[in-house]
Amino acid sequence: MQAPPVFDVDPSDFHADPYPVYARMRREAPICFVPQLGSVLLTRRDDVFVCEKNIQVFSSHQPQGLMNRLMGHNLMRRDGDAHQAERRMLLPAVAPKTVAAHWRGIFAAHAARLLDELGPRGGADLHAAFALPFAAECLKSLTGLTNMRHQDMDAWSQAMIAGISNYQGDPAVEARCHAATAGIDAAIDDMLPVVRAQPNPSILSVLTAAGLPEDSVRANVKLAISGGQNEPRHVILGAIWALLTHPEQRALLEAGSLGYGQVFDEYVRWISPIGMSPRRVAQAHVYQGIAFEPESRVFLMFGSANRDEAHFAAADRFDATREQSRAVPFGAGPHFCAGAAAARMMIAEVALPAVFASLPGLHLDTREPVRLTGWAFRGVQNLPVRWG
Ligand code: HEM
Repeated sequence: MQAPPVFDVDPSDFHADPYPVYARMRREAPICFVPQLGSVLLTRRDDVFVCEKNIQVFSSHQPQGLMNRLMGHNLMRRDGDAHQAERRMLLPAVAPKTVAAHWRGIFAAHAARLLDELGPRGGADLHAAFALPFAAECLKSLTGLTNMRHQDMDAWSQAMIAGISNYQGDPAVEARCHAATAGIDAAIDDMLPVVRAQPNPSILSVLTAAGLPEDSVRANVKLAISGGQNEPRHVILGAIWALLTHPEQRALLEAGSLGYGQVFDEYVRWISPIGMSPRRVAQAHVYQGIAFEPESRVFLMFGSANRDEAHFAAADRFDATREQSRAVPFGAGPHFCAGAAAARMMIAEVALPAVFASLPGLHLDTREPVRLTGWAFRGVQNLPVRWG
């Protein structure tokens, strides 16, 4: 039994491209302590898969954590029965049945409206012109906060994400996060009477109708906003970029031997939009000969797990024809992404087919390079393209 070996990272290199570092970690120190992150990292797919389910040790309950302090106590920071009870209240809004019956048409209408406006332009950065407003309009519908501007939905989501990963304690980042949560609370204040009078399948409405205390309703709406904007936006841009830079995969798609569902599954394996999920060690534990100290912090590294060569041949290659069922981009335990069916509908069934159908001849505008950054939240930041 030993303490986790120390593995130093250069934070800016790690932010720019964590994958070479992950490969070394998996090879040399798959469970390691990274001083720059103040955490123990689990980097192999099987370790993530096993440990995430051991909630007695790897707990989601983090009362002192930034998420609790800044966004309120949501279901993602609960364990066991308390977590399951709250998750069950959310499910009517995001269950596959509701997504197919209710959200599909609403998401498709958002895509059609934005792409109709975009079509005549012949070129744009798809970040600002499509992925951002589309993800935000879908999330406004899904949360029930249809009174928000899509620009605020995106900005407040970013501000909360920055706030909850502000381990350096930067006061300006914290102030922006407080401003964002205040804006969301004001939007909730306006919409609560509306959904009380006329319930609908939105998250705000189903949680309120289930009788969840208002503080928890607010905390869970903020959770959906922090998790439901950035990732769809990143995946829409990233999957389009992957197809534009892998013409052989695009040809398979056009020939009908590949589906957008496979492109979606492979993209979220290849560049996982949520690279890690944190846990608190609730009791002393030994795993794979490594001692875990109570109250230490552990990161389940989904981004690394999904490139694990033990499970994925040529793991660094984007190949939508591969078998991806062992990938864990949405988690691998009781906290499996509650919005996964909505995300798949939004992206694989609505956004990707609509973009390629509405913008014929879509290709990269190579005058401006595409930027890809991040490790905890990783994604394409801009996508200059032309069509027609
Ligand atoms: C492609 C897009 C998305 C990806 C890759 C993604 C990924 C994830 C991951 C990795 C987790 C943590 C799982 C864990 O710790 O085991 C998570 C949790 C969660 N996600 Fe997503 N997510 C996406 C979209 C969404 C959307 C659109 C929503 C909106 C409703 C959403 C709502 C949630 C919620 C509520 C949780 C917490 C679940 C729980 O703790 O039980 N996600 N997501």
